[in-house]
Amino acid sequence: MISKASGILPLALVGLTLAVACAAPDSTTENTTPADEAESATAQMDRPDKHSFARPDVSVKHLDLDLKVDFDNKTLTGRASLHLDRHADAEALYLDTRDLTIHSVTWTSEANSQPQDTPFVLGEPVDSLGRELKIDLPADASVVHVDYVTSPEAAAVQWLDPAQTAGGEQPFLFTQSQAILARTWVPIQDTPAVRFTYNATVQVPHQLMAVMSAENPQERTDDGIYTFKMPQAIPSYLLALGVGDLAFRPMGERTGVYAEPSVVEAAAWEFAETEDMMHAVEELYGPYRWGRFDVLVLPPSFPFGGMENPRLTFATPTILAGDRSLVALIAHELAHSWSGNLVTNATWNDFWLNEGFTVYLERRIMEAVYNPSYAAMLARLGRQDLDQTLADFGPGHADGHLFLNLDGRDPDEGMTDVAYEKGYFFLRTLEETVGREKFDPFLKAWFDANAFESKTTDDFLAYLDKELIAGDEKLAESLQVQAWVHGPGVPGNAPNLESDAFEKVDAARAEWMAGKDPAGLPTSEWTTHEWLHFLRGVPYDVGPEKMAQLDQAFGFTKTGNSEILSEWLLHVIDSRYEPGYGALEDFLTRQGRRKFLQPLYAAMAKHDDLKPMAMEIYTKARPGYHSVSSGTIDGILGWQS
Ligand code: BES
Ligand code: ZN
Repeated sequence: MISKASGILPLALVGLTLAVACAAPDSTTENTTPADEAESATAQMDRPDKHSFARPDVSVKHLDLDLKVDFDNKTLTGRASLHLDRHADAEALYLDTRDLTIHSVTWTSEANSQPQDTPFVLGEPVDSLGRELKIDLPADASVVHVDYVTSPEAAAVQWLDPAQTAGGEQPFLFTQSQAILARTWVPIQDTPAVRFTYNATVQVPHQLMAVMSAENPQERTDDGIYTFKMPQAIPSYLLALGVGDLAFRPMGERTGVYAEPSVVEAAAWEFAETEDMMHAVEELYGPYRWGRFDVLVLPPSFPFGGMENPRLTFATPTILAGDRSLVALIAHELAHSWSGNLVTNATWNDFWLNEGFTVYLERRIMEAVYNPSYAAMLARLGRQDLDQTLADFGPGHADGHLFLNLDGRDPDEGMTDVAYEKGYFFLRTLEETVGREKFDPFLKAWFDANAFESKTTDDFLAYLDKELIAGDEKLAESLQVQAWVHGPGVPGNAPNLESDAFEKVDAARAEWMAGKDPAGLPTSEWTTHEWLHFLRGVPYDVGPEKMAQLDQAFGFTKTGNSEILSEWLLHVIDSRYEPGYGALEDFLTRQGRRKFLQPLYAAMAKHDDLKPMAMEIYTKARPGYHSVSSGTIDGILGWQS
């Protein structure tokens, strides 16, 4: 299964649509001249990031955001003031927007703070890229102010009814900007190549609290007005906002958790090791540079496991297993504070620089805080995911490369296990070939040398060549860097993984398959990961009798562990284990994490007899999903809205 991939069906060729868009500017907006159109057409060629309309001659260095949150109309209304760094004689600023209504654009300068109007043009929509906003830039303009309102359908934003929250009394809102959804709630240069600091003022209903990827309040204000400061420069995909009935609990000196009041205690218990994780990673890669590391636990429709919004990781409540067994996800999002947030992929083709590095750091953290055999189990499960993804792609598929070519596609399509797990195994191969004594300082120096910058795959390869390979031809040959980065599949020098724990699980499973009573298997010490390995090795179509036997012995249908349940439910589907159907429907309607939804809907869609059940469940569940998840499932089920 391609568990991290969106499954979104390939879009129309963006490049082709662009040409049409440029030739047919939107008649409802300002006038466009043929010269504008020609200029716009050439610009498509030299945009360094093909997923953004931004051009490198002028960049946003600071954002002042002033927003009012309107739950009745499901809109964010306000102003984005963009402070510019003008590198060349640019006559226009190009921003990304999608589904935004632009009311007016004004500019100010160092010398004159009186806002003055300037012409702007909104281009035609281009698939997932949205619409280019071209703003004329007078010679001395240093700040551009865009007054706008978002659409209730803004893809980044999910507006939750009280019934979709734990408390059931208050509405909730959260954003998910990665990869290119920031433009649906802020007009911005929505490319990871541009970084800016920001300040924000957000007005919310007075009984709610607002938090952002910034310095955050720990208490509610009386008037519902919250001000935020983000002094470290971030790329747009790390802009984030959450609004709801939130409480805060400190966990350690620099760590705490935000969640709805009925969830916050359990979350603080579950994530209590976060401070230890911070120490472990700082030991390896240097100081944490973002001040605090807090976690916001969202309502269950959050479409990801976690999102590394700086200072405030967003997390799904489905990792609250009650036994701390799913906290590798916290290690993962924390690790992004070095790999991704500090040193950022310059384009989405370089996504493995974010995720592959982060999975590597995550497992180093888990090894340090727990033990090597724990990290080894995670690596083995990761390798299984990777092999499955590559098998689904088929041999020689270009999406099996670390360096991707996503031009003309939704970048979501490149967000697969390849970036995560092949990326991990590449770094692990480097580590094992040169040894940790060399590799650890090398990686630390990569983060230090490139802190708060955006880097390409070529930048990393040049650094690797200079600092680690350093002219050693034999070493260069043994690493097979080209095959890893620009080839499909997993090169032959990937490490062999051993896990004693999993060998024992394999043996137990084999005994059961051969007829032994499952109640007699030596499972009493098994952790979540052993159970996952056990289930993954059970044939999916093992059949209802064997399934009933397992269920009776281990109670899988009733498990509160979301990872184990999702694995079990795949078997429920393929084995037509009907006593599990209720739990399947319940799981699909009470949470919206795409990683869980996608394989389950895909498994049902594969079987003609189960497709009606899939459609029935989806009809009920779809209104509760975030657009990231519903977009993917729409594609799987051929849903027409
Ligand atoms: N940054 C990602 C989530 C993401 C990726 C959002 C691409 C949008 C586009 C986050 O760090 C992540 O990888 N989350 C994983 C966690 C896991 C690998 C521990 C998830 O949500 O499953
Ligand atoms: Zn990640």
